[in-house]
Amino acid sequence: MITLGIETSCDETALCLLESEGAFPNLKYKILGNIINSQIEIHKEFGGVFPMLAKREHIKNLPILYKKLLDDSKIDESKIDQIAVTSGPGLEPALWTGIVFAKELSVKLNIPIRPVNHMEGHIVSTFINKTEVSSDFTNIDEIEFPAMAVLISGGHTEIVMTQNIGEYKILGSTVDDSIGEAFDKVARMLNLPYPGGPLISKYAEQARAENIPKSISLPRPMIHSKDLKFSFSGLKTAVLYLLKSITDTGIEINENHRKEISREFEDSVTEVLMRKAEHAIENNEVKMILVGGGVIANKHIRETFTSFANEKSIKIKFPANGLTGDNALMIALACVLNEKIDTIKPSEEGSIENLIARGNLSLD
Ligand code: KG4
Ligand code: ZN
Repeated sequence: MITLGIETSCDETALCLLESEGAFPNLKYKILGNIINSQIEIHKEFGGVFPMLAKREHIKNLPILYKKLLDDSKIDESKIDQIAVTSGPGLEPALWTGIVFAKELSVKLNIPIRPVNHMEGHIVSTFINKTEVSSDFTNIDEIEFPAMAVLISGGHTEIVMTQNIGEYKILGSTVDDSIGEAFDKVARMLNLPYPGGPLISKYAEQARAENIPKSISLPRPMIHSKDLKFSFSGLKTAVLYLLKSITDTGIEINENHRKEISREFEDSVTEVLMRKAEHAIENNEVKMILVGGGVIANKHIRETFTSFANEKSIKIKFPANGLTGDNALMIALACVLNEKIDTIKPSEEGSIENLIARGNLSLD
């Protein structure tokens, strides 16, 4: 079975060809081709992702990348059996571009479309460890349920109890900004370019390496609340006031400020995340922790999660190389793992028309 994966929910135009055999937990996979085209350079100028610009770039790039995918993998398009496309959540104008592209191909090749939830993609991105194009099949990793998925990305911050593939219950999420958004906004306040997450983590690492003494403190929002809700907008405001208190005295924000604020900010979000994770495992049976989403590229958060899981004697999994951020492999993989996902056939009258972009699509 060959699945074409399409991901356009934000600022990455991503396509892949995934060959698979069998079903979960014995699914074997072979990556025939995998392309991620980032629009970061284009959005940088605006300090964040501009939906209409993302849409324009996806529309421009999808046919070019699709041709490249077929050429590089030397696969004739007639060999594709199904299309897995992200239908939500995400930026609707961006999502629509992938969906429209999928619909046209579905009719042309007479193959079904299977709409995938982007967040399910981030969960299953932790199921594999081999992400290179290969001529051999590889087994997916062993996954134990119930698992607690912690999804930390630019669009979401969610703790999701996963009883099985396709059986999700959101235990808690953010009431305002996502964790990635908070990283990016704080970076912007420190005059760092979009996306600021990787830069904040670099500055924080420098502060730790240089043992810069701690002279500031930021709040740990909702750390003591007895629920699994997150809130990061107050933390962002606290950084704003802190910066104002410095500049009001006539001092310009310098590299030392950037290092110290980045470390304190990273410590704050990490402590909150760990406290919520702890709260979740106190109240739920958890055999495995799966942490997905762009923010888990952060070394400090990853290391803290690893120590936490070791202390609790719970197995933990992170996305494989290249799968932390948005990609099409996780979308194709969710599609072949989750048999409950709809199969929309172009031959069935009316069915393809009903496939729409759902910006707020939820996992439960
Ligand atoms: O999952 P993702 O690629 O896109 C969404 O679906 O949102 O996540 C992107 C987010 C951005 O906010 C980016 O700043 C953040 O992930 N990010 C990081 C790091 N690398 C990427 N945040 C903190 N530390 C990092 N090293
Ligand atoms: Zn994502």
